Amino acid sequence: MCGIIGCIGVKNAPEVIYEGLKRLEYRGYDSAGCAFLSHGKITVVKREGRVEKLLPLLKGLKADMGIGHTRWATHGLPSDENAHPHSAGGISIVHNGIIENYLPLKEDLILKGVKFLSDTDSEVVAHLIAQNYDGDLLKALFKTVKLLKGSYALMAICEDEERIVVAKNKSPVILGLGDGQYFCASDEPALAGLADKISVLEDGDFAELTAHGVKIFDESLQPVSREVSPNLAVCQSLGLDGCPHYMLKELREVPMSIEATHKAFNSIEAKLSKALKDVTRIIITGCGTAYHASLIGKRYFECFARIPVECETAGELRYKNPVMDANTAVFAVSQSGETADTVEVARLALSMGARVIAVTNSRLSQLTRLATVVVPVASGPEICVCATKSYTGQITALYLSAIVLAGESLDGDRAKELLKIPPVCRSTLESLDMRSLAHVCASSTGVYFMGRDIDYAVALEGSLKLKEITYIPGEGYPSAELKHGTLALIDVNVASIFIITDPALAGKSENAVEQVLSRGGKVAVITTVKEVKERLSNKLQVILLPECDKYLSPLVTAVAIQTLAYKTAVVLKRDPDKPRNLAKSVTVE
Ligand code: F6R
Repeated sequence: MCGIIGCIGVKNAPEVIYEGLKRLEYRGYDSAGCAFLSHGKITVVKREGRVEKLLPLLKGLKADMGIGHTRWATHGLPSDENAHPHSAGGISIVHNGIIENYLPLKEDLILKGVKFLSDTDSEVVAHLIAQNYDGDLLKALFKTVKLLKGSYALMAICEDEERIVVAKNKSPVILGLGDGQYFCASDEPALAGLADKISVLEDGDFAELTAHGVKIFDESLQPVSREVSPNLAVCQSLGLDGCPHYMLKELREVPMSIEATHKAFNSIEAKLSKALKDVTRIIITGCGTAYHASLIGKRYFECFARIPVECETAGELRYKNPVMDANTAVFAVSQSGETADTVEVARLALSMGARVIAVTNSRLSQLTRLATVVVPVASGPEICVCATKSYTGQITALYLSAIVLAGESLDGDRAKELLKIPPVCRSTLESLDMRSLAHVCASSTGVYFMGRDIDYAVALEGSLKLKEITYIPGEGYPSAELKHGTLALIDVNVASIFIITDPALAGKSENAVEQVLSRGGKVAVITTVKEVKERLSNKLQVILLPECDKYLSPLVTAVAIQTLAYKTAVVLKRDPDKPRNLAKSVTVE
């Protein structure tokens, strides 16, 4: 949800801010803008649309400090006017988050004669800081945030002061420490190559960046120190590696994601085992794709450890007064570790005495910092808005966690089966031909994904992925439920894709296949069972994947459903990396 960045003491602030915004664009791409301070004057440039639209506007601009923003619209349509920065009285701000009480604040300001230029919640912050300004920008920001309810990462500059001031509550802010150059941003990768050291602000913190250094203050504006750590993002490649899209690049990294997550798990096995001691209740939660990975995790925990598991989306769970106590372990699954609902469930669980196990790809996230134990998903940066390699990383992490919970050895048969999967995914990625099925999906008015048991969980993800990047409506459905209602929707314009990986259930799913065929629907099957191909390939398209362990099949079928979604988006000329209306990191409710 919105990405923000600031820099001071740099040679060419417009270039630094532009490059940083490009890296942050996955957080929102409805509009982009920046403000630079040079010789006591602020210059603001902003535009509706992608960050690249700023490039011509930045030509010839010179400054050594500035702030920038890339927006995911929450209040007000995507437009030039609603783009950040917002300015008032020689002060400009950028904001990530939601000011929940902006309406009464705005009404108050209007009564005082303030004219608003945008429909955003954020503009009130610029006006409030201007009203509170008395020669000290940090104090004005401090006074202002006391009036705000909601979530914010705020950066402000003022024509009368050569500093950037920052406030943080619930939305992330990382400070970057370079040599005479200082930065603030929403995430670590935005600072790749700029700062080799970073500090993460805590909720309630303020910061001040000047050309001489960085100072951090607590919620009472008292100086405070925060841990300084190396910026690992400098070592990680954020390029496309010759792929036309990040989605394809990241899909090709699925095998690496499984291997790296497996390797990283060894270092936390003992801690996890200790944290799960005497646990009698397990809850797994997450949102979107992370929730779908959680559903697969539930099967692992129940089958391997025979402990009943509840699995619920975080947005639902947090408002249900869930039953949690000291014997409960809550697995909070989140690629970004910043998803508001998932983080709030973690906080709630801790407040009820439960243990929180974060399954996350982000080592600096709020979830990481809250958790009792972190099970690392070592997928590396995922830039494409839709999740690919992080999904398989999450499944891997949950699989290994279930082995630990079951008291089994990490050198045992289950772990050995896992070692076989990355090469299988690699060969699948090389040989999979989804072009024809992608054309079928692209010409359909709806696409249903169906499966039973663990395949149903993958069907949910297949459907989400296709909807998300192609905008074709559809659903993930249990094959057995088809005849209880959804069959009514089947006609010649609708495609049904069945996932079949369990030989024991294959016959049952084939019944559902026949039911769709006999209603004139288009059908394709993705299977790891070669007998299914033998039985069905004379009637419909069957994509045969390598045979593999039943529990690990989601890692292989994931490659197929993700590839299908990608190819369909390409056929329809959609941008798979930046689907409309979405952002990668959902830090608001
Ligand atoms: C879909 C997708 C989203 C995320 C969801 C949770 O492709 O990426 O559904 O899975 O927004 O995000 P994290 O995992 O960061 O909590």
